[in-house]
Amino acid sequence: MEVIRYKKQLQDAIHSYRRDKKAIGLVPTMGALHQGHLSLVRSALEENAVTVVSIFVNPTQFDNPEDLENYPKTLERDVQLLESLSGNLLVFTPSKSEIYNGNITSLSYYFDGLDKVMEGTFRKDHFNGVATIVELLFKTVAPNKAYFGEKDFQQLQIVRKLVQQQALPITIIACPIDRESNGLARSSRNERLSKSTRAEAGLIFSTLQTAKDKFGTENANDIKEWAISSFKRNSTFELEYFEIADEETLTPLKEKQKNIKYRAFIAVYADGVRLIDNIALN
Ligand code: PAF
Repeated sequence: MEVIRYKKQLQDAIHSYRRDKKAIGLVPTMGALHQGHLSLVRSALEENAVTVVSIFVNPTQFDNPEDLENYPKTLERDVQLLESLSGNLLVFTPSKSEIYNGNITSLSYYFDGLDKVMEGTFRKDHFNGVATIVELLFKTVAPNKAYFGEKDFQQLQIVRKLVQQQALPITIIACPIDRESNGLARSSRNERLSKSTRAEAGLIFSTLQTAKDKFGTENANDIKEWAISSFKRNSTFELEYFEIADEETLTPLKEKQKNIKYRAFIAVYADGVRLIDNIALN
């Protein structure tokens, strides 16, 4: 395993794989790695001759400076965790100046409405920031496959759209959500929860599971109202949104259509930490 700080050095390290037409995998991360990330990396290692794991806390996707400041940064531990995996791994840990060259701003993208709902409503410019760094990583590494977790499902759909719009020859691999024993979706942010909140946070997933049970017989509005009112009764968690939407377009469900796949999406605050999750409903 090699840790690399510079784009040019990274491109030199993968050059021979590209020349020999060997598969290159990319797993973009912001570090604070957990088992969920490691399962993405394991899939990439299995399917590619070389895997690049990028670790970069991308400032342009944070609309809240406090959130950026508090985002866990555990580079030494991350490198140790990656060292425990066997396979051909390059860890890319660029600085802000290496990525943004003194101009820390995001580009503006058009995502056909995918960025105008849910996370896009509550986190101003978040997806422009995500797309800016993902595009830069795609262009630097030019991977054959790139791996993203389904926990950030809206991000996943936006990355797919980016690849489609720019006709990039990259296959996006969606990896299932990895969960703690109580159902809480694994996230770097979970480390910031108190022990008791983390134990109670299984409520987020159980809400999604009940929504899925109800989806067969109840309409989306009733399910949404039920979810909102169950969180109103709970003082540990503050619901930011609960939405049922078309999985492809992410437009909120008004009337169920045949042959459309729907998902429930949720964002809550607990201990000042923002947690998101989602579930396929049909
Ligand atoms: O999902 C994440 O960790 C980030 O949004 C990503 C894709 C690494 C871009 O910074």
